[in-house]
This record gives sequence, C-alpha cells and structure tokens, in this order.
Amino acid sequence: MPGEYGYPNLNDNDWIWGGTLTDIETTLTHGIRWEGSDATRVNYMPAFDGMFDAGQVAALTSHVLSLSGKAKPNATGAVLFTENCAACHGATGAGLPAMGAPALNDAIWLYGGSEAAVRKQILAPRHGVMPGWKDRLDPATIKMLAAYVHSRGGGQQAAPAAEPATDVAQAPMAETDG
Ligand code: HEC
Repeated sequence: MPGEYGYPNLNDNDWIWGGTLTDIETTLTHGIRWEGSDATRVNYMPAFDGMFDAGQVAALTSHVLSLSGKAKPNATGAVLFTENCAACHGATGAGLPAMGAPALNDAIWLYGGSEAAVRKQILAPRHGVMPGWKDRLDPATIKMLAAYVHSRGGGQQAAPAAEPATDVAQAPMAETDG
C-alpha cells in the first residue's frame, strides 16, 4: 500500500492520527474531516496567506525543509515556526498525532517535500478527507481491517504511561514534543 499523493502510506511507522490499534479503528470508523460522523477526526491547518510577507514565507519554507536536512537552518524561519506552527506540528516538527498534524522532520510527505509544495501548503493548505466506514461496515469488520492495517508495518503499541494528549495540545510552546 504505497500512498498516493495526498494519501498516507499505511506500510510505514509514520501515523498522522496515531498508530495504535484503537487509533486506527477510530480513524476507520469515523474518518477524517468526514461529514458523516460527529466523532470524525478534525483539524484544519489555517491558511497563512496574507500573514507573512514573501521573505517570511521563504524563511519559513526553508526552516521546514531544514527539519529534514534539505535546506540550511534559518533563524527567522525558526522563530516564525515556533510562533505559528509548533502548536500543531511540535517544537521540532515531529508532528502531534493528537492534533492530526504530520511530522515535517522526515522524508515522508502527504503533499510533497519540494520548496514549492511546502510554500503552497503554508499559503493554501489542503485538508484531506477520508470517509468513515461506520455506516457501511459492521464493527467486527472494522476491527479486522484495523488489525490488518496495524499488522502491515509500524503498528504502534498503546503507551499506558503516556501523558494525556490534550496536555500537549494546551501547552503548544513546550520545549518537549513527541
Ligand atoms: C491548527 C494546526 C496547524 C497549524 C497551526 C499548522 N499546521 Fe501544518 N498541517 C496541519 C495539518 C492537520 C496538516 C495535514 C493536512 C491534511 O491532513 O490534509 C498539516 C500539513 C502541513 C504540511 C504538509 C505536510 C506533508 O506531509 O505534506 C506542511 C508542510 C505544513 N503543515 C507546514 C506548516 C507550517 C510551516 C505551519 C506554520 C506556518 C503550519 N503547518 C501550521 C495542521 C497545522
């Protein structure tokens, strides 16, 4: 299951909304930004068009690419990132599954890791939709599917001692992140 453009790869260890069995089951049941369920996973990256001048957009883009070693670190971009992006993507860009914000510090991209693609996401973010299956599949089938996806690679164990995810979301500027 290599992911297509805009759709995540389910074979790897990179989970936008969490990779435990329960996380996957919830995603399959309720979908992502899916109108058919009140419990759907929702988070909209805001459009930053008009917030930054061209130089700031370039600095931010460069900082984002530096997180995966594809550009030189950019001090201006780093400050803008801390102020505007870290709340969802984490201080180091490692992503926050509780927010459905993908990691930016790896080589895995939903929408492409080129300079143009990152700039486009900052100015006009995509909000990918996945339908939930609760009206079309019974719970037992969804459980089986979740187990299958979990087994394909990189399925994560539930971490019993983990901090509640909401704490992370409420303390966006904390130095630590997942
Ligand atoms: C309110 C939360 C939020 C904030 C703030 C936010 N993002 Fe995002 N970002 C997201 C979500 C959610 C996605 C995934 C979109 C999707 O699933 O379609 C995303 C996706 C991205 C992507 C695409 C990643 C990929 O794999 O292709 C980039 C690049 C990105 N964000 C950069 C930024 C930058 C830079 C900032 C700050 C200027 C920022 N984001 C601020 C939530 C946020």
